[in-house]
Amino acid sequence: MSPTDTNTQIFNDDLGNARPDAIYSGAQPEEAILGVVHDLGNLIQIATSALNIISRSPDMDGGSSLRPVVASACTSLRRAGMLVQQTMRLARGGQAAAAPVDVWACLMEIETLVRATWERNIVFELSGGLALPALSCNRVNLQSALMNLLLNARDAMPNGGAISLLATTVHGDDATTEIELRISDNGIGMTKEVLSRASDPFFTTKVSGLGGLGLPMVNRFAQEVGGRLDLESELGRGTVATLRLPS
Ligand SMILES: Nc1ncnc2c1ncn2[C@@H]1O[C@H](COP(=O)(O)OP(=O)(O)OP(=O)(O)O)[C@@H](O)[C@H]1O
Ligand SMILES: [Mg+2]
Repeated sequence: MSPTDTNTQIFNDDLGNARPDAIYSGAQPEEAILGVVHDLGNLIQIATSALNIISRSPDMDGGSSLRPVVASACTSLRRAGMLVQQTMRLARGGQAAAAPVDVWACLMEIETLVRATWERNIVFELSGGLALPALSCNRVNLQSALMNLLLNARDAMPNGGAISLLATTVHGDDATTEIELRISDNGIGMTKEVLSRASDPFFTTKVSGLGGLGLPMVNRFAQEVGGRLDLESELGRGTVATLRLPS
């Protein structure tokens, strides 16, 4: 099994036969989608309970090397659960709560997750972060946007490579301050045609992804906080995704 297989396997197994439209036949599309989200919430709870049992097992005592892996899975599931709750809240007409977010703390949490769970042939480097101002946004949405960009970078390097995330503060001419989050990979890159369509909803070149909604979601998050996403890419050399977010 290749590293990419291990990382994306969850999306290729039974789900292929259990299509939501079959499970929720008869429901309106929006209801069907919410039904899927709701059931995802149930599955997340089951997986969380299983992980809690594993983390209390005597095998996990002391310096077990599995401890950070389990901790990362717990963090990931907690965020997944929050996303599900948030989606259900939005469906009921609520709003994703925005609050001052410590961006560097968010990035360090992501770094822990990536380092503990990704294949060792992916080298991840987080840098910058000096005196980043707080960002008014929804914390879960910020982390989801960054994870989407990092997953794209990882997927672009099936045989491994280097991903860097540089966080800096940029001062505009008009005295505005932006946080710049620049994710670079040295993966397969994109042709001009793919680059021009990359952010279109449902555009994908992958057989095992979630269907081409990652970049549209990143764009939506960026626009919601008054920022933007820029993509630069060169075939065979890699890609740079830059999020600029007003603080
Ligand atoms: N870092 C990257 N390197 C190479 N190609 C990329 C990169 N990021 C995005 N792409 C291209 O843009 C397409 C769209 O990306 P997007 O994140 O929207 O969807 P996806 O990754 O295919 O699926 P999903 O994110 O829904 O699981 C990808 O299929 C890929 O062709
Ligand atoms: Mg993606």
